[in-house]
Amino acid sequence: MPDLEIVHHAAPQALSTQLMAAPASIPPKYLYDELGSRLFEAICLLPEYYPTRTEAAIFQQHQDEIIEAVGLGRTLVDLGAGNCAKAARLIPALQTAHYVPIDISVDFLKQAILPLQQLYPHLPITPLGMDFSQGIELPKSLREERCIFFYPGSSIGNFQPDEAAQFLQRLTAASDQPSDLLIGVDLEKPAHVLEAAYNDALGVTAAFNLNVLRHVNRLLGSDFDTHDWRHIALFNQAEHRVEMHLEARRALTVHWPAHSRRFRQSERIHTESSYKYTKKSLNDLLEHARYKLCNTWTDANDWFAIVHARPAHSITR
Ligand code: AVI
Repeated sequence: MPDLEIVHHAAPQALSTQLMAAPASIPPKYLYDELGSRLFEAICLLPEYYPTRTEAAIFQQHQDEIIEAVGLGRTLVDLGAGNCAKAARLIPALQTAHYVPIDISVDFLKQAILPLQQLYPHLPITPLGMDFSQGIELPKSLREERCIFFYPGSSIGNFQPDEAAQFLQRLTAASDQPSDLLIGVDLEKPAHVLEAAYNDALGVTAAFNLNVLRHVNRLLGSDFDTHDWRHIALFNQAEHRVEMHLEARRALTVHWPAHSRRFRQSERIHTESSYKYTKKSLNDLLEHARYKLCNTWTDANDWFAIVHARPAHSITR
């Protein structure tokens, strides 16, 4: 089994500050401890959560064109690899030379690469345990390789648009070679479809959201009781985003070393924003990040887009 290189850990100091702020928030990266990653895997199977199956159908329908566009024999850098399932389907088709799955959920990633290594015993795999939300740092040897930065599942939507542009821009600096970008982006659609996707009938998304409090308790030594909190998900039309919050069921105080924070009944902690793009705002995002859009593939409803782009400065090569 390849060694898992852990590049750096998230700093709980900022988390403490964000919990003391008004309104309080928890960065969405803390949704992904091992249980959170498993709950997200379950979300992807829910009938209400259309992004995963819509994206998979687009890949299936346009696979040949996508492969032709991005080219064979590259290093596939899988950002937020999770269970590696999306990349696993592309690896043989792209004749991937080197697979680099990156995820903040280190234990989950360790387990995910085992079956992959069995399936493709000759494929070099370099797993990286990394919080890449503030930027990505590739080991020196990797900087020389011609990469495809693969960022499926609309995870780019979990950044605010200007942070998303900065993130994409920093990717171009992560490699010494001009690298392609292959990302999945969720598109705007009727509010009832969006809200159902984040308020599923089985309550899996509610469990995923509430589980962040247990993760925070472990990181900070806090005493959040999940029974005191309710899952809220709503589409904020003006901001083009689905928001997840945790709402206090009663007035309460949460303690952690050197801190205590009082919450009023119905006061909320913002745990995630999931931005939804239009074709125009997506194009603006890429331009802002100095990428040139090469191709877009969508489904028949225009619910989801797979985008191939290249750094604008590399286009003349
Ligand atoms: C990972 N990310 C793109 C998911 C999303 O839709 O924003 C996380 C998620 N949150 C609730 N359900 C799924």
